[in-house]
Amino acid sequence: MRSLFGIGFGLWLAALASSPALAQADGAADVPLLEKMRRVEADPALSEAAFKRGAKLSNFCANCHGANGNSTTPDTPNLAGQNPRYVLGQMLKFADGRRRNEFMQGLIKAMSADERIDTALYFSRQPVTTQPSADAALVAQGKSYYDKVCFRCHGADGHGNESYARLAGQQMPYVTRTLTRYREGGGTRMDPLMAAATQQMDDATIRAVAAYVSSLR
Ligand code: HEC
Ligand code: HEC
Repeated sequence: MRSLFGIGFGLWLAALASSPALAQADGAADVPLLEKMRRVEADPALSEAAFKRGAKLSNFCANCHGANGNSTTPDTPNLAGQNPRYVLGQMLKFADGRRRNEFMQGLIKAMSADERIDTALYFSRQPVTTQPSADAALVAQGKSYYDKVCFRCHGADGHGNESYARLAGQQMPYVTRTLTRYREGGGTRMDPLMAAATQQMDDATIRAVAAYVSSLR
């Protein structure tokens, strides 16, 4: 099994170029990995070992996602506190090309199933320590929109759940860009539910909602 530590960046790119095109995976392809993660979570010894391995691997991710997954780079998302099922789902999307980012696609393809589970579990248990938006008026405007549309899936507190991403404390520029991508449907980031949820949003509303979720704890 390929390991993240045993493989340099050049090799990832080579692996990316030479790996056979993955079949169009649908949601069902998540199932074995999700089941494995459930088994690890349910067993204290397996869970602790996974957490320790995840902590080691996370040092590499920290270069961009920040210490313990609290990003200080505006267009790079926090991973701290993120729902591990959502994270595994996004890893699969990077791996099969449904979500596009050249670096993340190469990285995830080079990670084993266990490495994906270990990092997802490790980051999910890190507290979110990012700074809230300082613009109170913008935050209030965002809240009124969020409470009409977004709470239904992402929760009133923005913490998400088993199926939906945590938004609370997320980097505002990242959220702004991500919502714009869903709305515009360019192929970098696509999702039918989020395409529908963003269809009615103008740029100012996107900014306000992004300010609001980034201010949640
Ligand atoms: C060179 C910088 C870099 C490194 C190192 C890196 N990432 Fe990323 N990662 C990014 C960027 C940038 C994005 C956002 C891509 C986009 O625009 O959607 C991202 C997105 C993600 C996402 C999606 C998060 C979400 O909220 O949807 C996950 C999961 C992720 N990375 C996991 C990891 C893991 C695990 C590691 C370490 C093993 C890692 N990344 C290392 C830059 C990096
Ligand atoms: C019907 C359920 C639903 C509603 C309503 C909804 N979302 Fe989502 N949201 C999702 C799903 C599913 C995803 C994951 C999509 C993917 O795989 O890219 C997601 C992903 C996101 C992401 C990406 C998170 C990340 O870490 O990259 C953001 C940001 C987001 N939603 C914001 C919002 C906002 C703001 C609203 C209200 C305008 C909203 N959502 C309404 C289901 C929903």
